Amino acid sequence: MIKPFLNLGLQPLANEYQKSPKKLSIKKGQLYNLKVCFNTNTKLVSISKRIPSEKMFNSKYPYRSSMSLTMKASFKNLSQIIKKRFNPNLLLEIGSNDGALIKNFNKDNVIGVEPCKNLAQITKKNNFLTYDDYWNLNLASKIKKKFKFVDVIYSANTLTHISDLNDVFKSICLLLSDDGVLIIEDPSLLECVKKNSYDQFYNEHIYLFSAIAVNYLLNKFNLEIFDLENLPTHGGSLRYYIKRKKNKNFKVTNRVNIQIKKEIFYELHKFKTYKKFSNNVSKSKKKLIQILNKIKKNNKSIIGYGATAKAVTVLNYCNINKDLISNFTDTTPEKINNYIPGRNIKILKYNKNILKNYDYVFLGAWNFSKEIIKKEKKFIKKGLKFISHVPFPKFIN
Ligand code: TYD
Repeated sequence: MIKPFLNLGLQPLANEYQKSPKKLSIKKGQLYNLKVCFNTNTKLVSISKRIPSEKMFNSKYPYRSSMSLTMKASFKNLSQIIKKRFNPNLLLEIGSNDGALIKNFNKDNVIGVEPCKNLAQITKKNNFLTYDDYWNLNLASKIKKKFKFVDVIYSANTLTHISDLNDVFKSICLLLSDDGVLIIEDPSLLECVKKNSYDQFYNEHIYLFSAIAVNYLLNKFNLEIFDLENLPTHGGSLRYYIKRKKNKNFKVTNRVNIQIKKEIFYELHKFKTYKKFSNNVSKSKKKLIQILNKIKKNNKSIIGYGATAKAVTVLNYCNINKDLISNFTDTTPEKINNYIPGRNIKILKYNKNILKNYDYVFLGAWNFSKEIIKKEKKFIKKGLKFISHVPFPKFIN
């Protein structure tokens, strides 16, 4: 049974930054009600409303993996692990974005799949074979005709963005060699629950995976997790190493059991956990509004740092407008001079001195807090204060 547990109100499409301030409408499909549900059978957590992929992942998609040093380093590190541990002749990445991972490999050994044509264009230009298409059975069959099998399939922060998971895994099984390895990484539901990071939910994040739910899903395809890593990226992610059950080349490590036991300890398999989470989310909203109002009452200014999709969820859920946070700043060219959807807060181009003009910073990119705080040390020394709503709204420094 699918049971809703969290209502994050009317939300715009998270990555649809607006060229000019605009009142969005439900009728025109610019706003939707963001509700989050738990499937008591499969243990999958998902949002209830599905927006067509073509509406979200098109040639205007603004998210770039290479925009953060943390992500670049994470992909570089992973490419070394893959080469050392699996030494693939052919690696395919589902959701290759701007090539942050594949550029660490020899061009002859990798295939990118990226439906956002503006991003696919970047890796194509650099002569990496890239299919600018959605990952599905059609595309997998096309690739199969040319390459037969792939040794390693990798996908970060992509499979949870695709509604039809049966088609996703069928397509993977079609291409993965018998002794091949599938590596996926996505934000961890356990970390989300522990950190109360409700901003992991938005239209693109259709699912938020736990190891329990992934295990259940893989079982249908005779696949299994044989190793796991906890990563700091995206506020806490899990990297799953997956193989066919019949492949005896890899032993299932203890890390898999440890993670599943931890998730059971936190009762991720029970609905009541999510009801409690939902209560904590309401409390978080109240507290954040209280903090921002108090700052404004004292005539101090606040800028948002990192115009993330996550921030779009927070601002719209908490009804935060430009009277509270006057501007955001971001390094992503596609976001600069645009407006946060639904809130009409302008995104300014980042420069080293931008924070000079503000008293407080709301961390939209709280998942990069270490990187950001290190970068902005000189302002913090002068009294600038950062606010993060994770795990509970407070000042951090
Ligand atoms: P991310 O947290 O990955 O985003 P999302 O919630 O959209 O998945 O994105 C980080 C955003 O923060 C991205 O737009 C780039 C921006 N950013 C900066 O502007 N400066 C920085 O120093 C860092 C680390 C990120």
